[in-house]
Amino acid sequence: MTSATTQAQRTKRVAVVTGGGAGIGQGYALRLARDGHTVAVADLGPADATEKLIREAGGEVFSARCDVSDPDSVTGFAAAVTDRFGHVDILVHNAGIYPIVPFEETDWATWRRIMDINLDSVFHLTKAFLPGMRQHGWGRIVVMASATFHSGPPGMVAYTASKGGVIGFVRTLAAEVGAHGVTVNAIAPGLVRTPGTLSGPQQELGLFDALLATQAIKRTGVPEDLMGTVSFLTSDEAAFMTGQTLVVDGGFARA
Ligand SMILES: NC(=O)c1ccc[n+]([C@@H]2O[C@H](COP(=O)([O-])OP(=O)(O)OC[C@H]3O[C@@H](n4cnc5c(N)ncnc54)[C@H](O)[C@@H]3O)[C@@H](O)[C@H]2O)c1
Repeated sequence: MTSATTQAQRTKRVAVVTGGGAGIGQGYALRLARDGHTVAVADLGPADATEKLIREAGGEVFSARCDVSDPDSVTGFAAAVTDRFGHVDILVHNAGIYPIVPFEETDWATWRRIMDINLDSVFHLTKAFLPGMRQHGWGRIVVMASATFHSGPPGMVAYTASKGGVIGFVRTLAAEVGAHGVTVNAIAPGLVRTPGTLSGPQQELGLFDALLATQAIKRTGVPEDLMGTVSFLTSDEAAFMTGQTLVVDGGFARA
């Protein structure tokens, strides 16, 4: 399969994308399939639409219901993927939630849920797939962070803490696995139009318009803005880049 934006012939790999049933994750799954990889999608909901897009593009795809915050669910998903494809080369931790709740209204259950899905899932999935990468001497792990880590918007204490956690995760795991051909990086997007942000309070709060005043690029981000970054980070060409967080936010944070 070819893509207008795919520059070089790539080695076919097996890629897992969490939260690949919708939004940015759906875009990642399709892009990695277009890059020539076999894609396994883990999502809480159905990933039929993603499967259809990939098959129509001539790609190979498998999807299964998986709650990335539940260790047993992750173990079941990992077993299904390895039975089918052998080891996994590329792991994109994309599933995440971003409720907007002031800290003083954030109860323990809400805090735990955000940490479970956004941060603890990264532990569970990496535990499942890192050993295969190490054994084969090649791996690419990409985690979704967020530009909120830099801007610290009100109402997102738990979310921003969870994304700060993944930034710490990639920096430190990178140091442990670099010698084994495995890179670990994060992508930190600004606000992007997805089913999640379009159905959440972001619209009502006027955040899409408010950010444009500060962004260098005067339009709202869309999932397509992130595809080149994930494609690069999962390629052979990114072999010397690890432990990094790439901010893709239209130039909101320019530090
Ligand atoms: N959209 C943005 O503006 C934005 C900005 C910065 C970072 N991000 C991050 O990007 C990622 C994707 O965001 P999005 O806007 O595309 O989200 P979205 O809500 O549009 O889609 C998220 C997908 O993840 C799945 N999912 C949610 N919880 C899950 C779970 N426990 N197990 C498995 N799958 C689960 C959902 O079913 C859905 O298919 C998230 O990690 C988010 O924090 C998004």
